[in-house]
Amino acid sequence: MSSVPADLLAAVRAAERIVVFTGAGMSAESGLPTFRDEETGLWSRYDVSRLATPEAWDADPALVWAWYQRRRFQLAAVEPNPGHRAIAALGRHRRVDVVTQNVDDLHERGGSERVVHLHGRLAETFCDTCRLPYPVPAVDPQTEHLEPERCVCGGRIRPGVVWFGEHLPADEFARAVDHAENCDLMLVVGTSGIVYPAAGLPQVAREHGATVAEINPNRTDLSEAADLVWRAPASTALPALLEVLSGTAS
Ligand code: OAD
Repeated sequence: MSSVPADLLAAVRAAERIVVFTGAGMSAESGLPTFRDEETGLWSRYDVSRLATPEAWDADPALVWAWYQRRRFQLAAVEPNPGHRAIAALGRHRRVDVVTQNVDDLHERGGSERVVHLHGRLAETFCDTCRLPYPVPAVDPQTEHLEPERCVCGGRIRPGVVWFGEHLPADEFARAVDHAENCDLMLVVGTSGIVYPAAGLPQVAREHGATVAEINPNRTDLSEAADLVWRAPASTALPALLEVLSGTAS
């Protein structure tokens, strides 16, 4: 792998507040599929309109619930990768806020304490009618259809993720914007940058004077506007960055 770009290292050294803005590529090397990578991406293999919209839930809740239970079950079997752990360790050198689009909990399990979840959390479940939290264990559905549990109010228990056509959690998004406005450096890791409003955060950071650096093996919609680009996978780039920083930082 190429060594840490000097301009990126300089930007990290100079930054007091860093935001790490992550997408599915962050967790790819833990074994969780991305959404849009060819062949392996979830939306390359499954029809998003049948699985990740309020209309899909209304049309066939058992299909949707089985699919999410499978993902919840898979999540329990994977571990944070060295990239997640390096981000947490970076927090010992600088103030680091993680803003993630990921619905997994690998940042938290990797040791990060300041994590904003823009698209919800797979681990959480709530009633689709009274909206109250209703914990349900992750089990392998072993079938294409699984009836969701029922709340005492009669509603169905749904996954705690944001579907297409739904609003982002307002408090989490407000925190993400605040972090973007007040950071010196935003590291954009493992996102295609095409799902808004999340994908607008690097622009917010830039407008408020931050440097924006992309870490991604592939070109994205955010690449052109980024100040720095490092074509490398998260699980090797972030530990390499940390290692150089740890060895030389004051
Ligand atoms: P995508 O699947 O759209 O993009 C994944 C990105 O990760 C791509 O740019 C890949 O090049 C990159 N990538 C792959 N492997 C990587 C690695 N090892 N290290 C670093 N980068 C790598 O996923 P997201 O951008 O997260 O929405 O997708 C955004 C949203 O669309 C998701 O949050 C989800 C989805 O529909 C909701 O759940 C609401």
